[in-house]
Amino acid sequence: MSTPSPTKRKLPQHDDDDPKPDDVSEPETKAPSLDIVKGKDTIIQESNTNKDNNTNTNKENNTNKENNANKEHNANKENNATSADIPPSLPPSSATIMGCRSVDNFNKLNKIEEGTYGVVYRARDKDTGEIVALKKLKMDREREGFPMTSLREIKILMTYKHPNIVDVREVVVGNNLNSIFIVMEFVEHDIKALMEEMKGPFSTAELKTLLRHLLEATAYLHDNWVIHRDLKTSNLLYNNRGMLKVADFGLAREYGSPLKPYTHNVVTLWYRAPELLLGQKKYTPAIDMWSIGCIFAELISKEALLPGRSELDQIDKIFKLLGTANDKIWPGFSQLPNAKKVNFATQPYNNLRHKFPHISDSAFDLLNKLLTYDPAKRLTAAEALNHSYFRESPPPKDPALMPTWPSVHEGGPRKKRRPSLDEEMQRERDIAESRNEEERFMDSRDRGYGTSSSKPFVLK
Ligand SMILES: Nc1ncnc2c1ncn2[C@@H]1O[C@H](COP(=O)(O)OP(=O)(O)O)[C@@H](O)[C@H]1O
Ligand SMILES: [Mg+2]
Repeated sequence: MSTPSPTKRKLPQHDDDDPKPDDVSEPETKAPSLDIVKGKDTIIQESNTNKDNNTNTNKENNTNKENNANKEHNANKENNATSADIPPSLPPSSATIMGCRSVDNFNKLNKIEEGTYGVVYRARDKDTGEIVALKKLKMDREREGFPMTSLREIKILMTYKHPNIVDVREVVVGNNLNSIFIVMEFVEHDIKALMEEMKGPFSTAELKTLLRHLLEATAYLHDNWVIHRDLKTSNLLYNNRGMLKVADFGLAREYGSPLKPYTHNVVTLWYRAPELLLGQKKYTPAIDMWSIGCIFAELISKEALLPGRSELDQIDKIFKLLGTANDKIWPGFSQLPNAKKVNFATQPYNNLRHKFPHISDSAFDLLNKLLTYDPAKRLTAAEALNHSYFRESPPPKDPALMPTWPSVHEGGPRKKRRPSLDEEMQRERDIAESRNEEERFMDSRDRGYGTSSSKPFVLK
């Protein structure tokens, strides 16, 4: 399942987010029209685009999932829902959601998480009694149409099925047609909250199982031309059957070959790859692998590896830990947009081993190869899965023997953690501030980021 095919299917470029020549940010445009349709191997289609490129076996397999009953139920309704049925006062995209079941089919039990934008509930399906998670989509500020990010999130989660990716059952609609929920399998923990509750760190065997699950899911996504773009511990769920599940595809997207420029304002700051921080527009799935390196380190030490306070501070922290990048170890580094603007102080040493003196040589080798500057040399998910770390003793723990904990998701909503440093909020600020990079760098310098003695960031 994890072994990528040697030749990847070549996707045509996506017209819907062709960047404007002088703006590579992906538009927050609404999908022109989203049809949630029944079909043999399609749950959701973007109309007006002929993306008929996804007829791979995975998708065909997906259609045989247990939730076909719901889909059929929906499909019957969908057959009858045409845009003519939509009252004129409703937005045109309402046709998209007319066929979905209502959220009234669920009893909400408790809020799991209330973030800056979305809310996730634990709920019970009134028909089946099954406990599920309901994620309310971020539609609040939309007047018409689905936000493109929500459309991608649904489409990708409905399309790509894997034991280590959270399973989405269906989409349901609230009383107000602008409130849309994704119905997912309920998973007892997320790794971030779990690590905060746990007394000690994971054992090496447990850690190997978690990392392997994360790599299996990532190898599968990359093999299917999907970049997650927001891998971090709070987006990794963990159930009481020892399985890690990658979640939160709100920033994920399919990409094609040849690469095209996409927004670099992706990935929560602490997990963001150096090429993104330095403004590279044409990036690859290697950005997810950097995040996995940061996650691996965090699983070992139970604390974030690179908790930057701003983009500049993030690069500063990376260079202090791994040594300043240069053209020798990363060809093309000095030509990256933000590298051209800033003179970085030279820090010649890689201090990673000093930070992790107790891990085995092969654990260190894997970590170091995930945290490789040059994205072309960084390990791929498939290569990481083949690393000797997974073969040396102790072997990964059988999921059936993995520890269980009382679920933190079954109580009330979790208290907000360290709001001043909260990386989600930081990310939102980064995105809002991202328009003028040069100004931002100058501002950062004026605000005194970096160490004053060494003056690491000097504008050329
Ligand atoms: N299927 C699920 N089961 C249980 N908890 C979940 C599930 N999906 C998400 N959560 C919880 O809700 C939080 C927010 O969900 P996420 O999909 O990451 O949305 P956001 O875009 O708001 O970050 C997660 O960090 C996790 O704690
Ligand atoms: Mg999240």
